[in-house]
Amino acid sequence: MTSREIRRLYFENFINNRHKMIQRSSLIPPNNDATTLFVSSGMQPLVPYLLGETHPEGSRLVDIQTCLRAQDIEEVGDSRHTTFFEMLGNWSLGDYFKSEQLSWYFNFLVDKIGLDPNRLFVTCFIGDEDNEIPRDQESAQIWQKLFKSKNIDHEIVEIGSEKNGYKIGMKQGRIFYYDHTKNWWCRSGSINEMPVNEPGGPDSEVFYEFDFIEHDLSYGQYCHPNCDCGRFVEIGNSVFMEYLKTEHGFKLLPKKNVDFGGGLERLTAASLNTNDIFRIDLFWPIINQLEVLSQKKYSSHQESMRVIADHLKAAVFLANDGVVPSNKTQGYVMRRLIRRAIRYGFDLGIENNFLNQVVSIIQGIYQQDYPDLIDNQLKIEEVLTKEEKVFRQTLRKGLREFDKIINLKLKIEGKDVFKLYDTYGFPYELVIEEAFKQDIDVDQNWRSDFDVLMLDQKNRSRTASKGTFKGGLAGHEDIHKKYHTATHLMYQALRMVLGEHVIQHGSNITDERLRFDFSHPDKLTIEEIKKIEKIVNDQIKADLEVSFQEVPVGIALNQLKALGAFNDRYDSIVKVYSMTPKGQTEPFSREICGGPHVAHTNLLAENGQKFKIIKEESSSAGIRRIKAVLS
Ligand code: ALA
Repeated sequence: MTSREIRRLYFENFINNRHKMIQRSSLIPPNNDATTLFVSSGMQPLVPYLLGETHPEGSRLVDIQTCLRAQDIEEVGDSRHTTFFEMLGNWSLGDYFKSEQLSWYFNFLVDKIGLDPNRLFVTCFIGDEDNEIPRDQESAQIWQKLFKSKNIDHEIVEIGSEKNGYKIGMKQGRIFYYDHTKNWWCRSGSINEMPVNEPGGPDSEVFYEFDFIEHDLSYGQYCHPNCDCGRFVEIGNSVFMEYLKTEHGFKLLPKKNVDFGGGLERLTAASLNTNDIFRIDLFWPIINQLEVLSQKKYSSHQESMRVIADHLKAAVFLANDGVVPSNKTQGYVMRRLIRRAIRYGFDLGIENNFLNQVVSIIQGIYQQDYPDLIDNQLKIEEVLTKEEKVFRQTLRKGLREFDKIINLKLKIEGKDVFKLYDTYGFPYELVIEEAFKQDIDVDQNWRSDFDVLMLDQKNRSRTASKGTFKGGLAGHEDIHKKYHTATHLMYQALRMVLGEHVIQHGSNITDERLRFDFSHPDKLTIEEIKKIEKIVNDQIKADLEVSFQEVPVGIALNQLKALGAFNDRYDSIVKVYSMTPKGQTEPFSREICGGPHVAHTNLLAENGQKFKIIKEESSSAGIRRIKAVLS
């Protein structure tokens, strides 16, 4: 099925059930929504109505909302993550509820789209005693009936946490109960971080099983619907939005609402039984064009082509909604998307201007459903090609300077790489590539020298962007604190095992894991991973004390020798966290960081958990990425 057919059938299905079609909102949230830079779900523009305001179009609405999840920018490159996507949405504003919603969607998937119901698995909310929210038995029972109507087994399995899912697996179930980390929906992501007056509710997700994908054991022993190995992909989420967070816990909203969201791209992929969303009609023409432009095959350059296709599509829709590249807020993200696309173009050997030739393909794909792309065609082309020109000028100036440097000396050093980066915005990967191409020697310490200069410069030039681009720390719940502390221990362990060239390039923490990017040229060996795990677990066991002091940044770096992150910019006074063995003065780890952390390290093993590295992979040239858990 094509994405256009699915769009049409979805609208038809809900219009037949007396829904009014509403227009999508801009990717830029309305002024009264300060929660995110971009609209990243269909419900955001409808929050006032979910809270009780009357919608002019009535109580049953259907739409397709363009969404942008900038936080996923670095996830793009696998078979299913994108920053930009279209979300199918339908809403009941105090009208129908669970039984209509789940039946309509199930019948749409099976009878209209033609998905094999044997490949569908669903999840429901297990309940939350702390917040006095009951288990969603009603949804589970509705699902039982629906599967039964197609003569499909319909066992219910209690999973609870994602972690437990990896321990117990599918147990031949069809309907799975998960806890609030998986089956509670609100804008802030977590039930315990919801601000007062925020609506939320239990949800029920549908997963499609690509049964030809083998479970990847590096995620956990057993596969389950919420496993990230790629065998199961979520293709729709019905949120039963009936709660409001108040000063005194949760109360029921005046009306029971439904907020449904389903990713069009994933749904189209499921309808074709392909697990690679880049093979659907909303991406494939772009990939084809990249194959033509680069004279390279998608099969051997998947990551670069996926990144370029996604990022340029996002940039086209941003330009369509009036965003222009700049150094702050939405414009900054747009600039990053475009420059990353051009950078990945280099990986494909595309060195000349090419954005226009991709932009026209993107417009061709979407013009029937988004006629504004045609109205804004010139503007979009102008905005993107201008940014491409600016960036390439930067690169050209950098190349001229590069030639000057190599005329004067025999070797490129870290300070040269830094100068090219700092003065001309010339990405360091390109400097090294250029040196390689021209057969010029590169000093073997270039990277650590470059990193030191970079840190120093960042310290001097802190800007106001801190508030908008918070670090990887998405929340301050206990589990986040633990992963944050574990990250510090691991950073130090990495430097002990691999060497002092290891510098943090990025960090991101969720309820389930930590992720950490760092400079290192090679894949880690099993022995290295084991050593790192052992060092971290030993420090957890030794119960180091965690403390912090506030000092001028120069003292932190030069006297205390605190570690910093490659990409951070520091205030003149910084917090330095130390993790110190009992009775000693010399810390095991000392890092510049805003916190918060747990008070002492054996809290990380509170329930017998151990620190474990579950994934080690390349993130970009010279940068490795680790995912680790406490389990
Ligand atoms: N608001 C829900 C989501 O984004 C449907 O998943």
